[in-house]
Amino acid sequence: MSNPNASPYGTLPPASPVAARKPVSLPRLNDMRTRGEKITMLTAYDATFAAVADAAGVECILVGDSLGMVCQGLTSTVGVTLDTMRYHVESVARGIRRVQGTAWIIGDLPFGSYQESKEQALRSATVLMQAGAHMIKLEGGGWTTEIVHFLVERGIPVCAHLGLTPQTVHALGGYRVQGRDDASAQQLRSEAIALQDAGATMLVLEMVPEPLSTALTQELPTCHTIGIGAGNGTAGQVLVMHDMLGVNLGKNPKFVHNFMEGQSSVLAAMSAYVAAVKNGTFPDNAKHAWA
Ligand code: KIV
Repeated sequence: MSNPNASPYGTLPPASPVAARKPVSLPRLNDMRTRGEKITMLTAYDATFAAVADAAGVECILVGDSLGMVCQGLTSTVGVTLDTMRYHVESVARGIRRVQGTAWIIGDLPFGSYQESKEQALRSATVLMQAGAHMIKLEGGGWTTEIVHFLVERGIPVCAHLGLTPQTVHALGGYRVQGRDDASAQQLRSEAIALQDAGATMLVLEMVPEPLSTALTQELPTCHTIGIGAGNGTAGQVLVMHDMLGVNLGKNPKFVHNFMEGQSSVLAAMSAYVAAVKNGTFPDNAKHAWA
């Protein structure tokens, strides 16, 4: 007899197969770093994919403003609003809760929600934390250092984001590798150190040359570097879920690998991603990184 209480849509198990794991926390991420275990992160924007990523063993789920492109059909992340981010963070947090998942949820502060002042940043961060995020992410260095300090002092864990910062794509002149010349590499390095000093405990490094991100990782013991197109020397890796599942119509950027190849389910593809990051086979510097 069928269960009259079972939902006909997007069935989730009552409890995650990995529920025996302890919830991911900052101390757990620090322990992983100390042991040399790579941190895995994937983006997710809804309850079901978040639950599947959690079941695959992904430690950190980033509700990224990349949802502007992959969910909303925008051409950049600039048009994403705080209200949209709140909706998706709530959906992801509900999905993780429903399966008693353990993932650490990071909510991305969208363009215009923190640039005005540290007080505005606190108000926006509060919206995402109350929606279920454990940490917020914001883009940029220099001017963001004061904001990071202000949020961290008030009990909000912060993930910074340097290198290619998509919210400033128009100022950068396109989606280009950053930190290639000595001056920009040196600037990135000093911004990263200042962000760690301000209390950031994670740092996404997007599209920066592998030698730079590897060197930065050595210099940032308490701020875990998470690379995307930054080579395999970082403390962890992140990919946009749609890209790593091959769910797009364009050509994937060089740093992406389609983990759906050879797999028969999304769960298997995400598990393959986790395994490849943990055993160091992804990313392969020869294929997925810039020198
Ligand atoms: O918005 C996002 O998904 C991101 C990742 C690409 C790191 O910032």
